Amino acid sequence: MGNEKDLGHSHDSAPRNDAHGVSRRSFMKTLGLSAAGASIAGKATARPGGPASAAEGDEIPINGPGPVSVTLKVNGGEMKTSIEPATTLLETLRMNLGLTGAKEICDRGSCGGCSVMVDGKLTASCMMLAIDAIGSEITTVEGLAKGDRLDPVQEAFIKHDALQCGFCTPGFVVACRALLNENPKPTLDEIKHGISGNICRCGTYTNIFNACLEASGQAPILDGPVNG
Ligand code: FES
Ligand code: FES
Repeated sequence: MGNEKDLGHSHDSAPRNDAHGVSRRSFMKTLGLSAAGASIAGKATARPGGPASAAEGDEIPINGPGPVSVTLKVNGGEMKTSIEPATTLLETLRMNLGLTGAKEICDRGSCGGCSVMVDGKLTASCMMLAIDAIGSEITTVEGLAKGDRLDPVQEAFIKHDALQCGFCTPGFVVACRALLNENPKPTLDEIKHGISGNICRCGTYTNIFNACLEASGQAPILDGPVNG
């Protein structure tokens, strides 16, 4: 799977990270700007909490290069932490907030292991700065179950044995949930396209497709158990 592949959670074939305004290129540019901003003492423009741009003469908040205090809306609540401005959303979730469901696998937007929803949109959290998620509703795999009641996607993954090692599973569950939120009854082809940004190295795709069909109230159309 190429690095510039459609990470595909939507049906318009727009790359997933582009769909959220965070292409790999812009992400790297952002990091570059952060570094440049840090080196221009007194003139840095990084957020958080501040405006994306300011009129000439406005006082521009300076953040970094040291840790900054941020509040993120995660799984229906607010979580506060302190991070370096260039910290990714994935690192912040895992290392600062103790939400380790999203996995760091490729760390370059190619595998979907770090999938979360940001304002309902499937997002590779390794490709987004945490400060860019301020003000957005972030949903991780930990936020899908309601108390003891699993999300139907989680139930269907269990029923269809849609995992082997399980390392990719949280990302696939979030990707399927995001797809079904946009398209409650996807065809098999739409499922394949919708979760095509996620990679399962164990090859459990057939069972994942069946789980997604089941979670959407449709009969599985592929005989299982089949891993391949
Ligand atoms: S770890 Fe983020 S896409 Fe692979
Ligand atoms: S179940 Fe092992 S990588 Fe998907």
